[in-house]
Amino acid sequence: MEEYLESMAAFRSEFQPRNDDILLTSFPKTGTTWLMALCHNILNLEEDEEDILTEKNPHDVVPTLDGAYLADQLPYSCLPEAVRNSGCKLVHLARNPKDTLVSMWHFYNKILRREPMSSPFPIERAVESFCSGVIPWGPFYEHVVGYWEESRKRPDEVLFLKYEELCRDPKDQVRKLASFLKNGDNDDDDDVVEKVLQRSSLGRLKELEVNKNGVLEIVPIPNAHFFRKGTVGDWKSCLTPQMAKRIDHLTQFKLRGTGLSL
Ligand code: A3P
Repeated sequence: MEEYLESMAAFRSEFQPRNDDILLTSFPKTGTTWLMALCHNILNLEEDEEDILTEKNPHDVVPTLDGAYLADQLPYSCLPEAVRNSGCKLVHLARNPKDTLVSMWHFYNKILRREPMSSPFPIERAVESFCSGVIPWGPFYEHVVGYWEESRKRPDEVLFLKYEELCRDPKDQVRKLASFLKNGDNDDDDDVVEKVLQRSSLGRLKELEVNKNGVLEIVPIPNAHFFRKGTVGDWKSCLTPQMAKRIDHLTQFKLRGTGLSL
């Protein structure tokens, strides 16, 4: 813990972003891997004929602050002033809280279970932790709302996307992301957008040898853990109606007055 706090303090005092930096700020399990692949492909499609994502997991292609500072995916309130004043761009991908929780539950069950057959972490406790905010990188709502509010104040520098909208209307959302990343200078035709989506798709990435059997370079986590179902509403397979109701009430309460719906 101390190590993290020291690292975060160093990040806040030392990190000097460039004005052409792009920081991806999503909460874990909201689709960060997808966002990384999309940004990489939008910005490098022409130069990346070899298609680096066939050899490396997106987390090993897109540099993370974790490498230098153990300070990845921080809430907006923890970012250094320098980030706010540098003109660098932030992209936030948000996801429905119940799907985020269920995705996180599956992920940590895979990482933390010593034996594949040992019991999963009780879902009731996972719901309790999520609602109290005591989860990795938590609390969830404050994290999302921080970026949402900043995106409303500084739309040219902070882009707020939703996983569900990316699933529902991928071409439109990728155009929006590309236009943001390229300062409005984006006239990609349909073929380019389709290629970006195809190269970033869950179906393709999941089946690549590197993601089936490889392990991340930055931390020893099997690449396969980052790719599961990628569906909207998968919470229904794990949460009882009572659990869902509890989270829905909390979501309503936490988002009241923000103009954000998740
Ligand atoms: P599920 O567990 O619901 O399937 P993160 O990348 O932030 O760790 O989030 C992981 C979630 O994003 C997982 O959701 C995973 O399946 C999904 N995901 C990973 N890559 C994706 C992609 N290329 N397209 C859509 N969803 C993806």
